[in-house]
Amino acid sequence: MNVPNHVAIILDGNGRWARKKRMPRGYGHMVGCDNLEKICYTARDLGIKYLTVYAFSTENWKRSREEVDGLMNLFRRYLKRCIKSSRENEMCVRVIGETSVFDDDIQESIRTLEDYSKDYRKLYFQIALNYGGRDEILRAVSKLSADVRDGKQSADAITSDTFEAYLDTAGIPDPDLMIRTSGEQRLSNFLLWQLSYSEFYFTDVLWPDFNKEELVKAIRQYNNRDRRFGAVKGDPSCSQQD
Ligand code: IPE
Ligand code: IPE
Ligand code: MG
Repeated sequence: MNVPNHVAIILDGNGRWARKKRMPRGYGHMVGCDNLEKICYTARDLGIKYLTVYAFSTENWKRSREEVDGLMNLFRRYLKRCIKSSRENEMCVRVIGETSVFDDDIQESIRTLEDYSKDYRKLYFQIALNYGGRDEILRAVSKLSADVRDGKQSADAITSDTFEAYLDTAGIPDPDLMIRTSGEQRLSNFLLWQLSYSEFYFTDVLWPDFNKEELVKAIRQYNNRDRRFGAVKGDPSCSQQD
């Protein structure tokens, strides 16, 4: 099995999973959060090098106060617990998204976790919190414009590489495989720039039920895909990406 270098996952379906069990949505988020911890161990075991998960979008603030507060408390606990799994998985954790809006203690936990895990190299784990692809691109444009204004960048020499260095994912290769659970088939503002050439895999399985077997199924299907990057495979006159 050829394991993709970078897997990105939209963790969806916690609410429906809870409803099926006649439980409140918060219960689904709690079990979904435990599952996130498990999938990190699985990713490490499978030899995935980069894992990026979408846990809270810039649009998710529109949910009820109760649900948002519950999610914030879940993140509080999760970020602390993640210290242990970062050590056990030797995983370097980075939070992507606009984190300055979170309560101070959450921002502090993010800094502590990132700092604690910064030298681990087995797995690179990105958690998208208050993340939106459009917001990320706009923030990048804003920082880049400031550098042009200050003479640190030339407006005539902006390339993809220059631009990527301003994204939250700077230094991280683009995802090879993007998985969305729960049957929805849309991006919901996830990694708009970075998913340009990724393979997409959609499954009806709800996030709390998404386990190692399901991840392996996704990777096997990915293995059967014919990745092209715009070129034609087998044509020696074309330069191809591996
Ligand atoms: C995904 O599950 C988790 C977050 C977006 C925080 P949902 O909460 O979107 O679950 P459904 O889609 O309502 O089932
Ligand atoms: C996308 O799921 C965001 C996350 C999983 C964090 P949503 O459930 O919020 O997306 P929509 O509303 O169905 O598009
Ligand atoms: Mg959803």
